[in-house]
Amino acid sequence: MKYRIIETEDYYSLAVLFKESGLEVNPEDVKPESIIKMWRCENSQSGELLGGAIVQLLNGIYILKDFAITEKYRNCGIGKELLFHVEEEVAKYGAGEMWLVGKTPEYYKKFGWEKVAFEDAPKFSKCFVCRQYNKTCFPSIMKKEID
Ligand SMILES: CC(C)(COP(=O)(O)OP(=O)(O)OC[C@H]1O[C@@H](n2cnc3c(N)ncnc32)[C@H](O)[C@@H]1OP(=O)(O)O)[C@@H](O)C(=O)NCCC(=O)NCCS
Repeated sequence: MKYRIIETEDYYSLAVLFKESGLEVNPEDVKPESIIKMWRCENSQSGELLGGAIVQLLNGIYILKDFAITEKYRNCGIGKELLFHVEEEVAKYGAGEMWLVGKTPEYYKKFGWEKVAFEDAPKFSKCFVCRQYNKTCFPSIMKKEID
């Protein structure tokens, strides 16, 4: 299957995918103003959504806010392509580094991301003030140098 990665303004479609993928996103919410870019990966012929990624800029910190591949297309290398694309695009801002809070640290580690201790991380995510954080939900804080 041929696919392409393109920028999109369609927040709702991505938000639905993120919610279906188990991320803490409500498609009915207004798109956060801090989002600076969104990408969709789609079937080149049919336009079917295969994956999506959203980058946020908060207090000078570039954050991979949400990232998912449609379930039936996982483990085909699409996530890797999309992640590399996003990293390349964010590097163009002169960002230097990128951050995320994620539940799949082993995945990101494969691609050069490293875990950062809570005490050493900027407090960029609403996860950090969530009552479930490190009680019933244990996401990892991760960073990647992208120069
Ligand atoms: C995590 C996710 C984005 C990976 O996308 P994908 O397209 O399935 O991944 P890829 O096909 O690019 O996988 C590349 C490599 O990572 C591995 N991998 C895939 N998912 C993994 C996971 N959850 N943990 C560790 N490694 C994983 C693959 O086996 C593959 O390994 P290989 O190169 O040695 O063969 C996808 O599973 C997903 O959308 N999950 C639900 C939403 C989610 O968890 N998003 C991230 C939240 S922080």
